[in-house]
Amino acid sequence: MTRVLRWIVSPARFHSGTARVPGDKSITHRAILCGLLAAGETVVNGANPGDDTRATIRAARLLGAEIAESSDRIRMIGTGGELREPDRVIDCGNSGTSLRLLAGVLASRGMFAVLTGDDSLRSRPVDRIIQPLRAMGAHLHARAHDRLPPLMIHGGELEAHAFTEPTGSAQVASAILFAGLSARGTTSVRVKPGVRDHTVRMLPAFGARVEVSEREDGVDWRVSGPKMLSGTSLRVPGDPSAAAFFMAAAAATPGARLTLEGISLNPTRLGFVETLKEMGAGIEIRNGEDQAGEPAGSLEVSGPGELRAVEVPADRVPSMVDEIPAWAALAARARGTSRLSGAAELRLKESDRLKSMAANLRSLGVTAEESADGLAITGGPVRGGTVRAGGDHRIAMAFAVLAAQAEGPVEIDDASMVATSFPEFATVLRERGGQLEEQEAG
Ligand code: S3P
Repeated sequence: MTRVLRWIVSPARFHSGTARVPGDKSITHRAILCGLLAAGETVVNGANPGDDTRATIRAARLLGAEIAESSDRIRMIGTGGELREPDRVIDCGNSGTSLRLLAGVLASRGMFAVLTGDDSLRSRPVDRIIQPLRAMGAHLHARAHDRLPPLMIHGGELEAHAFTEPTGSAQVASAILFAGLSARGTTSVRVKPGVRDHTVRMLPAFGARVEVSEREDGVDWRVSGPKMLSGTSLRVPGDPSAAAFFMAAAAATPGARLTLEGISLNPTRLGFVETLKEMGAGIEIRNGEDQAGEPAGSLEVSGPGELRAVEVPADRVPSMVDEIPAWAALAARARGTSRLSGAAELRLKESDRLKSMAANLRSLGVTAEESADGLAITGGPVRGGTVRAGGDHRIAMAFAVLAAQAEGPVEIDDASMVATSFPEFATVLRERGGQLEEQEAG
């Protein structure tokens, strides 16, 4: 029977202080996949401990890597490019990043593999991955006319290709770069401004250079193959997307202060911080040492007397794509109507986040409307009530933060998926004053 984890979150004042957040999930996935391809040993310190990155570890083992792991440290011996044909279907669980990046890795291998996942992942599109990898010469097929997982891959020798239509998806662009590492010649992919560039920043540590050039309509990433990677040791900085929930909690509490240490300060992840400033929160950033090719440092957020409504411009969406649920929770407490546009991609995440945020906000008495590609949210009082997380970790965490500001307890029907990215979320919330009761069922 599937486990259900109900959360009852009661109103409580946020306590000033520091919040520990896990290592960045996106960077951890990439480090494991580079370590799988590399010759020799790779050590990943500060790894994200969630179920999603565990799915990538399981896949890397099936493909021939030797891996020893503790909660936030991964030691692995890579395959030196000689991957083993997996003897079973690779289950990526809830993790879209695992499935899409693995497709890029497998596209160049002369072997057969099938990638699948849970109900949510099997309802998310893979045509965006199939098309470019086919153009490079791989054979891929999927259910529902090549649209949905399971995804079957029969890889082979790839031809380099130049993709000039800008993509807004870091997962797609990263899959192309991973495939490009094994293709003969120079592969390039154009991304929209603000798309997270962790793959570009990480590959040099494993011995592969990625050239970056600015274009009128985006940024070109270019890799030359075939290229063998060599193992390395790196430290993953803290995850700004996990931190966002606590930044929102502090920003919504007049006079509160929150410090986050060792966080990734990669500009492609700071759209939410920019938006917090516009809403009136105090933000102080102190740069520290780079980690895993990423700028990192500390961030301090302080809550203003009152938050202002804000309009999030469409071109900022890529750099805060995973922070929209946290933003929506904050918009529900700001004076005026906040608006978001250019965010249709949100419908293709772990749940349809535009629909889910609007419906759940309304059920707590907040005025919220969804449009085809955005949201309009009018801030005001929040009632107690029930939230349906829809199997989405970020919806559950966003409403746990908002619940602290409500007039009565909020029940979140199932928060078990929070373990995919931030298993310690409830503990950290309680450390900051959160009143969260967990009830297991099923
Ligand atoms: C990710 C990219 C984003 C993001 C996801 C992680 C990545 O997805 O939403 O949580 O690690 O590359 P898209 O590439 O689909 O925008």
